[in-house]
Amino acid sequence: MKGQARKKRSWAEPYKIKMVEPVKMTTREERERAIREAFYNTFLLRSRDVYIDLLTDSGTSAMSDRQWAGMMLGDEAYAGSENFYHLEETIRNYYGYKYIVPTHQGRGAEHIISQILINKGDYIPGNMYFTTTKLHQELAGGTFIDVIIPEAHDPDLEYPFKGNVDLQKLEDIIKQHGAGKIPYISIATAVNMAGGQPISLSNLKELRQLTDKYGIIIIHDMTRVAENAYFIKDREPGYQDKSIAEIVREICDLTDGATMSAKKDALVNIGGFLAVNDENLYEKAMNMVVIYEGLHTYGGMAGRDMEALARGIPESVSEDHIRARVGQVLYLGQKLIDLDIPVVKPIGGHGVFLNASQFLPHLSQDLFPAQSLAAEIYLDSGVRSMERGVVSAGRDPETGKNLNPKLELVRLTIPRRVYTQAHMDVVAESIEEVFLDRKNIRGLSMLYEPKYLRFFQAKFERI
Ligand code: F0G
Repeated sequence: MKGQARKKRSWAEPYKIKMVEPVKMTTREERERAIREAFYNTFLLRSRDVYIDLLTDSGTSAMSDRQWAGMMLGDEAYAGSENFYHLEETIRNYYGYKYIVPTHQGRGAEHIISQILINKGDYIPGNMYFTTTKLHQELAGGTFIDVIIPEAHDPDLEYPFKGNVDLQKLEDIIKQHGAGKIPYISIATAVNMAGGQPISLSNLKELRQLTDKYGIIIIHDMTRVAENAYFIKDREPGYQDKSIAEIVREICDLTDGATMSAKKDALVNIGGFLAVNDENLYEKAMNMVVIYEGLHTYGGMAGRDMEALARGIPESVSEDHIRARVGQVLYLGQKLIDLDIPVVKPIGGHGVFLNASQFLPHLSQDLFPAQSLAAEIYLDSGVRSMERGVVSAGRDPETGKNLNPKLELVRLTIPRRVYTQAHMDVVAESIEEVFLDRKNIRGLSMLYEPKYLRFFQAKFERI
């Protein structure tokens, strides 16, 4: 922020458009057929039937011309690719972690770290679960325990750092189970399932002190660390004059290792990594990566993809980029708030989360309100969103019962550098339309349920 004039300027994009990808405008009739054939699950739609795709911000970003140019410099050697060394150096520079193992995407890194660190019967406290992260912890024999502050579960509460850890609850858990049963604390920045809500640096510093006291390490899910840094700069006293890059580095320096789905903040279509500071852990990770991903100097990524990532990381922490990125999300969120549509507040970094429980108060959770709402929005306009409620939460592995989470949400996730302000206007118009007609939405019943991560492939029919 340099001077008054800068502050008044809109969040407008710090780039211009060089290439366009046509999208199809469908008729209501076509959409009726498409969603029926997709069994009312937006994950099963064909993308050609989608107009504005807000399913996810994962792997859907537009790369810059510099990144595309880097793709041509792919060194596709099986071992020791130049692009790996460029990536390693970039990660060390921007995030500060010492040892890096590339993986094909975020869950590849989650798999490796869970298998290395977790023993059967362990507990892994974290600031709200993420679907794949928790599943890998469970597959390794662990149990996830949510230690996010209670404010995170209240969608109406305007609390600036809903991603914070409830330190008292965490300490009670450590005392209850003993530090020996807790291999690490799992900390996400810009907590996805809470609505893209940030953790503050002061909370992270206190967490560091607490974990040091008990000798427990912190593993950072840094998938959306730049968005978290943006909110710290905006909201946390003392950080207004720090750069996003400095804040990102400060966050990483407070943790012992990280898993990264580079498909989000880091502006690439595929890729991820595991980063650790401990040499011993790195050695174990190198042993695992060759089994499940590939050699430690490519880990499931092509040379060109590692180059695109090495170039995406500096772009992701640039001030103008992150201001426009989050600015666009806030723009859509504010529009919906102005229309009195129930959304999770404050608006998060990567998307706007509709509160389906309030949107469809006449539907109980066993009628899958969020799943139904996502299908209705698609029907209205071809806008694709996703369920983040009872379907995503799955079942309790012990009792087999639905987990019935407090948050029953539809996520409108904004890809980075892809859609325009006019697209956001259309999304808001469509949601308003569905909102006005909400009494006619009657819910869904589940026809088919896969064993793992059921939201991806479950099938439904209309009631
Ligand atoms: N951690 C977080 C916070 C994520 O949001 C994701 C993916 C992952 C880990 C796993 O990474 O997909 O590269 O294997 N989230 C996507 C989403 C799927 O739509 O939110 P991945």
